[in-house]
Amino acid sequence: MIIAVDGPAAAGKGTIARALARHYGYHFLDTGSLYRMVGLAALKAGGEPISPETAIAAARSLDPTSFTDAELRSETVGAAASIVAVIPEVRAALLDVQRSFARREPGAVLDGRDIGTVVCPDAEAKLFITASPEVRARRRQIELGSADYTAVLAEIRARDARDSQRATSPLVAAKDAVTLDTSEMDITAAVQAAIDAVDAKRVYATPYPSPPQGERAG
Ligand code: DC
Repeated sequence: MIIAVDGPAAAGKGTIARALARHYGYHFLDTGSLYRMVGLAALKAGGEPISPETAIAAARSLDPTSFTDAELRSETVGAAASIVAVIPEVRAALLDVQRSFARREPGAVLDGRDIGTVVCPDAEAKLFITASPEVRARRRQIELGSADYTAVLAEIRARDARDSQRATSPLVAAKDAVTLDTSEMDITAAVQAAIDAVDAKRVYATPYPSPPQGERAG
């Protein structure tokens, strides 16, 4: 089974997707980290502004072992990820790795921006996790230990605009996604709402057992 978890920055989708993977015993992929790796590799190779050629080369020769989690999590790298994510060739270069991960047994949870729409349009369960920009900025401010709420909010808004308005694979809820607004929820409530939504889909994803030998239906 594939569970697609999409949504804007700092809406809680990473926390929810990890919790779902733990709950169901599935594999987990944070696809944003792939774009962050490309953004960071492009910054290291060519500096700013990032050139499309440098970003495409970085995406095609990505070595996930050459980055530390700490350097990938910074806001600078998040912004670089959002910039390289606009480039269609970068997105194409990252598609296979995401799709082959999604096929892992017994199931996989992928979180990102275009999982339910482009990477895994056939995912059995799709969630779109969102929250108001103000709530997301407050959460990101706490996570970063930053004093400047206004700057964090401006960065969240800039990232929303870039991610939603790009031509290729923009951030948008899949038509068959369940939307969860976590603005008023704590983590426990948000995770439970996500499990309930996935359980509702799992009923239909589980094939009916075959009737015993010799028994006829009807
Ligand atoms: O989820 P995140 O903040 O780590 O993602 C960083 C950026 O990567 C995000 O602003 C847009 C891009 N991204 C994307 O375009 N598609 C994805 N599936 C995941 C991330």
